[in-house]
Amino acid sequence: MGDRESGAAVTTVIFRVQRYAPEDGAGSRVVEYRVPVADGMTVLDGLIHVKERLDGSLSWRASCRMGICGSCGMWINGRPRLACQTQVAELGTGVVQVRPLPNFPVIRDLVPDLGSMIEKHRGIRPYLLRRDLDELERPTAEYTQTPADMERYVQFAYCIKCGCCMGACPTLATDVRYLGPQPLSQAHRYNADTRDDGFEERREVVSASAGVWRCHFAGECSEVCPKGVDPALAIQRVKRELVFHVLRLRRRPTPAPLAPPAAGLERRPGIPEPPPPTAGTL
Ligand code: SF4
Ligand code: SF4
Ligand code: FES
Repeated sequence: MGDRESGAAVTTVIFRVQRYAPEDGAGSRVVEYRVPVADGMTVLDGLIHVKERLDGSLSWRASCRMGICGSCGMWINGRPRLACQTQVAELGTGVVQVRPLPNFPVIRDLVPDLGSMIEKHRGIRPYLLRRDLDELERPTAEYTQTPADMERYVQFAYCIKCGCCMGACPTLATDVRYLGPQPLSQAHRYNADTRDDGFEERREVVSASAGVWRCHFAGECSEVCPKGVDPALAIQRVKRELVFHVLRLRRRPTPAPLAPPAAGLERRPGIPEPPPPTAGTL
C-alpha cells in the first residue's frame, strides 16, 4: 500500500471474489471489485483494500502476512495459494479470481472450515511418542540428535497447516474420508524423527482404508505446498515403511538416547525456576 502512496505505477485489477453468507440462504455468488494494484501488492493486500474501502462485509482469514501462520490459504487463479505470499503481478493477468480452499466446507466467503484436517492431523498423533513415558512427561534432559538425523525429517516439519495441499488433492475431492496429504506427511515427519518411537502406534491409522494406499501419487499436493514440504514424497516413504514392515525388513531403530548433562555449565544465580508444567499427560 505504501508504494501507491509514494506514487509508484498503479493499475486497476478486477478481483472476482466468491461470496457466501449462510444466513441469507442465497448460496454462493461471485462479486467483482476494482482494486488499484501497485508493484509488490499481494492478493491479501487487495482483499484488505476491498474490505477497508469497498465492502466491509467481505470475510477471509489471515494473521501474520508473511507465510508463517497458515491462515490465508485460498484458491487463487486456478490453484490453492497463500494470499499473503502471492503477488498480484506474478499472476500476470488483469483478473484475480479468489475462492475458498476446495475440499473443505465454507464458513463464510473465503473462510474454510479446516476442522476435518485438524481432526485427521490429531489422529496420526503428531508429537514424539516414546516408551520412556516418565521422561516424556517429566523431561530431565534433551534427546540427542545429529544434524544428519535432523535432515531426515526437517523438510516435513516446515508444514504450517495451511490446507493448500488438501485443497489441491484430487483423491480428497472424491473421498472425504481420505486422510489427505497434510496429516499423512506429518505421520512421516514424526516416524522419521530419531527421537520418536511411534511407528507402531501410527501404523494402524496410516495403513487403514482411508490412509496412504488411497494416494494416487498425482503430486498436486507437492505442486501447491508453499513451504516445500513435498507431502507426496512423504506419503511414498510411509508406504515404503509399511511394505518393509509387512516383509519384516523394517528394522526398528533405537530411539535417540538422552543427552548427557552439559559439563561446566552452572545455572546463573538469580534466574527464577520455570513454572510447573500446565499440559496434561499424553
Ligand atoms: S504440507 Fe504444505 S500445503 Fe500442506 S498444509 Fe503443510 S504447508 Fe500447507
Ligand atoms: S500425491 Fe496423493 S495426497 Fe498428493 S495430491 Fe496426489 S493423491 Fe493427493
Ligand atoms: S497471513 Fe499468515 S500465512 Fe498468510
